[in-house]
Amino acid sequence: MQGNNRREQWATKIGLILALAGNAIGLGNFLRFPVQAAQNGGGAFMIPYFLAFILMGIPLMWVECAIGRMGGRYGHGHTAGMFELLWQHPLAKYLGMLGIFIPFTVALYYIYINAWTLAYGYFSLIGDYFGVTSREAMGAYLRGFQGVESNQYFSTVTTSYTFFLITLAISMYIIYHGVSGGIERLAKIAMPLLFLIGVALMIRVLTFGTPDPNYPEHNVLNGLGFVWNPQPERLPHASLWLAAAGQIFFTLSIATGAIPTYASYMREEDDVGLTGLSTASLNELAEVVLGGTIAITAAVAFFGLAETQAIAKGGAFNLGFQALPMVFQKIPLGQLFGALWFLLLFFAGITSVVALAQPVMALFQDGLGWSRWHATCGVLAALFVLSQPVIFFLKHGFLDELDFWVGSFALVLFALIETIQFAWVFGMERGWNEIVKGAAIPVPRLFFYVIKYITPLFLVFILVAWAIQDVPNKIFMVGVKPEDVPYVWAARLMMVAILVSFGFLVKIASSKREKGFQR
Ligand code: PHE
Repeated sequence: MQGNNRREQWATKIGLILALAGNAIGLGNFLRFPVQAAQNGGGAFMIPYFLAFILMGIPLMWVECAIGRMGGRYGHGHTAGMFELLWQHPLAKYLGMLGIFIPFTVALYYIYINAWTLAYGYFSLIGDYFGVTSREAMGAYLRGFQGVESNQYFSTVTTSYTFFLITLAISMYIIYHGVSGGIERLAKIAMPLLFLIGVALMIRVLTFGTPDPNYPEHNVLNGLGFVWNPQPERLPHASLWLAAAGQIFFTLSIATGAIPTYASYMREEDDVGLTGLSTASLNELAEVVLGGTIAITAAVAFFGLAETQAIAKGGAFNLGFQALPMVFQKIPLGQLFGALWFLLLFFAGITSVVALAQPVMALFQDGLGWSRWHATCGVLAALFVLSQPVIFFLKHGFLDELDFWVGSFALVLFALIETIQFAWVFGMERGWNEIVKGAAIPVPRLFFYVIKYITPLFLVFILVAWAIQDVPNKIFMVGVKPEDVPYVWAARLMMVAILVSFGFLVKIASSKREKGFQR
């Protein structure tokens, strides 16, 4: 494949759908979703969540599959090149560049978190944390492991660093084997296993009943109620809508650039309608049914509402890495169930890691004409070097700063840019033709108008609410400890540096293409 111009393609239709599902289903489904739901009004969260799914999630999934397939037709696997097709203007590539910048920068911390799941799977299997029973102690164990503090469990960051290297190596190994030989093969194994393990864990959790008769209110039903009971008084708050929309983007991988890149490896006759809908549905199944049941319900059944709330407040990771390890110590075959839970997370994560890395691969291969080997080395080197501050400055909020700007804010911004490019600059008529061309299901015409009017309006509303509510506090570092301020600045500087670097690469790629045309 190297050296010639034929681009790679997904080998099978089922492989294409599983790969896209692997892209979307990730740590966001199992760690982020339950915490977001519980913190933002429980069942009331589901109203804006489903609205966002229908009015932005599904339409953008179709838009991105259509943009991607069209890009692939012209040899572009990255959104910078694709945007040049939508808008013949020198600026287009820099807008599209966001779809390379976002996944790459998210990968800088996503890989590290994914490494924790591998480590904790191993710790479960060998029973390493068994005997660490209180919430405080389990928190110390996690912080020691993360290198946030040095304690009797871990004195250095070496263990988590080792697992980081292993996870990075595994993901690059897969990437190097290419689209069908690496990513598709991984998805065909990991996705069915993920659903199998997920269902097994869900059944186990639902049969916990009331584990301790001394605490009758600590039970499965109250756990489900915590996620699902609506608190309608929260509905008028903009924060609820922001959280719901943010979760939809992140969990579906939309407005990140990752979906168009995967779609660029579709065959011309592969359809956008059914592929996009299947991907979105599989993701919601994993998120709402499995993700919404396992972690929180288990925690409430064993520790009660107040304790679970306290754990969830500590951050998205504490539920999975703190509460559940305590649960596993209390149930028969706990080591095995612990290993299964973290294996589930690892599979969910690794199939997303390769999706986060592939857009840069596409820029290197399609844009700069590098071989797959050189592209892999380039991606590996960049990820390795730039992950270092994320790992070593974790306790100073470096990761959180990246996550806010790149993992939340930039997605909404990119979604708006992309929708306008597609529906208004490229034109909704042409865009619609791309979506329905060869579609295996009739895509309801209603979505023509949704994409043209409702999606952009919804996005503008969210962006404005965000700009008013969250962004100023974030810009001025409200609540940031004085000693962390330099690290936050460093994180910002790094993001700007990454943006500028991609700007140069995208410019080179674009002029290479023009020269190719003149020849
Ligand atoms: N959707 C993935 C998750 O839920 C994360 C992801 C975001 C993957 C963007 C690829 C691109 O965890």
